[in-house]
Amino acid sequence: MASYEIRVIGDPVLKQEAAEVTDIDGKLVKLVDDMVDTMYAAPGVGLAAPQIGIQKQLFVWDINDGTGPHAIVNPRIVESDGEWVFEEGCLSVPGLSWEIVRPNHVHVVGVDLDGNDVSYEASELEGRMFQHELDHLNGVLLVEHLDEDQAKEAKRQVRELLLGRQAESKEPSRRLSLR
Ligand code: NI
Repeated sequence: MASYEIRVIGDPVLKQEAAEVTDIDGKLVKLVDDMVDTMYAAPGVGLAAPQIGIQKQLFVWDINDGTGPHAIVNPRIVESDGEWVFEEGCLSVPGLSWEIVRPNHVHVVGVDLDGNDVSYEASELEGRMFQHELDHLNGVLLVEHLDEDQAKEAKRQVRELLLGRQAESKEPSRRLSLR
């Protein structure tokens, strides 16, 4: 069991496209275990491999419906329809959320950790989670789905978030130098 550090907006790894997984081996299963631990510790309902700096097409999720945790490898959306507005957040943009319109219903296919084909029809929270995590595998963050007004405000909010984190990381040394 291990927990990874979650990469935050501004980290270039979050803007890269993840590579297809070619081998489902013990190493990948261990990675999934660690991703699940990291997701629960955060806590979050989904976590994609690029969020911990690993460029693989893989994500884990648990939307607290009693069926999780789950993992999917090389997922893709084959069908989507409807429209749903949902206040969406992201572990890589901590503390911020925006109302984002996306399709309500998606059909996602991929492979599970046994190498079997899997298929999910999902709506609302689960459908949103699939779209959000799949975006991560394509190097897309939720801020890219904002409308013009939201985007303007988000730029400011993200700047403040990053400045706050910078100040936080400097705090211990500042405290030490006061002694
Ligand atoms: Ni996210």
